[in-house]
Amino acid sequence: MRFILLLLTFVFTANSLSAQVLNSKSYKNGLVVTADRYASEVGKEILQKGGNAVDAAVAVQFALAVTLPRAGNIGGGGFMVIRLENGETAALDFREKAPEQASRNMYVRNGEFDGDLSWEGILAVGVPGTVDGMIKALERYGRLPLDMVMQPAIRLARDGYELSYSHAEDLNNHKDTFIKYQASANYFTLEDSTGFEEGDLFVQKDLATTLERIARFGREGFYAGPTADAIVNEMKRYRGLISHRDLRNYESVWRDPVAVDYEDYTLHIMPPPSSGSVAIAQILKMINDYNLKEMGHNSANYVHTVAEAMRRAFADRSYYLGDPDFVDIPMDELTSEYYNDVRMGSFSMDSATASTSLSHGEIAGYVESTETTHFSIVDKDGNAVAVTTTLNGSFGSHVSVSGAGFLLNNEMDDFSAQPGEPNAYGLIGAEANAIEPGKRMLSSMSPTIVTKNGKINMVLGAAGGPRIITSTLQSFLNRAVFDMRAQQATSAPRFHHQWLPDVLLFDDFGLSPDTQELLEAKGHRLFPYPAIGRAHNIFVEPDGLLTGGVDPRGDGFAAGY
Ligand code: DON
Repeated sequence: MRFILLLLTFVFTANSLSAQVLNSKSYKNGLVVTADRYASEVGKEILQKGGNAVDAAVAVQFALAVTLPRAGNIGGGGFMVIRLENGETAALDFREKAPEQASRNMYVRNGEFDGDLSWEGILAVGVPGTVDGMIKALERYGRLPLDMVMQPAIRLARDGYELSYSHAEDLNNHKDTFIKYQASANYFTLEDSTGFEEGDLFVQKDLATTLERIARFGREGFYAGPTADAIVNEMKRYRGLISHRDLRNYESVWRDPVAVDYEDYTLHIMPPPSSGSVAIAQILKMINDYNLKEMGHNSANYVHTVAEAMRRAFADRSYYLGDPDFVDIPMDELTSEYYNDVRMGSFSMDSATASTSLSHGEIAGYVESTETTHFSIVDKDGNAVAVTTTLNGSFGSHVSVSGAGFLLNNEMDDFSAQPGEPNAYGLIGAEANAIEPGKRMLSSMSPTIVTKNGKINMVLGAAGGPRIITSTLQSFLNRAVFDMRAQQATSAPRFHHQWLPDVLLFDDFGLSPDTQELLEAKGHRLFPYPAIGRAHNIFVEPDGLLTGGVDPRGDGFAAGY
């Protein structure tokens, strides 16, 4: 059921690939690429006021909470990867956590696991991490005060902004779910039957007040006082689990990015609880010995080779990965050349390996909504920030906090709520990602900064659940192997394999019929998909100019100067 709902959501919101533009305008001083025009303009405004890339990123995150309510958030979480002009790198984990009262059987009803409970409604909500994350990022690396970087978001919430066609449609398409929750009905639906229309002014006064509290009181403006009271009241209203103590105790965490070398490039990727770093490292190691350039972009042999590596990496993901604060992840082994060579031992150029014949390696599912969002920023000094942030599904749990004006996530579904059972993305998890109080759920979000010979070269990332990993990988390969420009690399048709279910997804119309036939002859089950991920990338050109890659699968925007 969740699978079908998610597919429909995607079909309604995805823009056609035929809208592709290969615009490669370059900018000298700074560039902000996000999923939303208002948010990109906010980032640019902050850069022009003297802020650095981190100031701009914090401003964009808060702006997206206003102008992209289906994914932008203060009631969710995400990851930030930073690379400063002096070469320092950092990764900030502001992923949600399971509340203290969470337990393994919290989704069992009458002896049966009920997957809908981890997807919609109050029990789907993890303890939000975004606000703590933004404040920590700004304190450590920002130049401007919090209230200044939050002003544009407050303005957009208080004065309103014009809904785009797709945003109005998104809200209308979710009306039936919003009306189940009183506060969401008030904030996100109209009483008359016509619904929202393109150009309507969308005003969010309660959200503006909450944002003002955060701007004034910092962390305390969210995790204590009236906002925390409002969250806990919402929990009481629908019998949720998050307590004042969960909120008070929430802390985002600085971690070290995983550095992965590929030819002259180094990818700095978000570490676990993101699975992206390990998966991308494994895939790159597995395909390293093959001459991809000679095979040709999206040729049958290229798609086959990379998809077989994806299959193997996702099988490992499902077994080994989880929150590193709770489980030991064999990072060195999983990302070693030796291990990945052995993993590719069963690869044949002629035929696909059946996923049923493959499990995780030994050390000595899945269509979904569109609703995570990624943005990339580079400032005039060469500082770079990549952020991926989410409520998980479109509009998260669909529960809003009464009086506080914002939606709560449904991130609990990213746990293997029932080890061995697929989640909404068809991903099967194991013990490593089982629910435990205070644990972070495994993620596919993979913000990535790429350097080449020590200089910043690409800022990458995407939305799209497990397809985030494979989209980010392909954005990278499109430049590193095939020399594409930013827009081309972002628009080019992509494909995706995640081990189970055993199908090879490809961007609708993205593979020629004869390529499809060749892949089928190798034993792949092909499945056209409306859009594989939504990437928002920045490439740094050899002359230092910045070019944006805005995904034509969505309605993102590049704002530079
Ligand atoms: O963290 C994750 O992997 C998921 N919560 C991401 C969900 C997602 O990307 C939805 N759509 N774009």
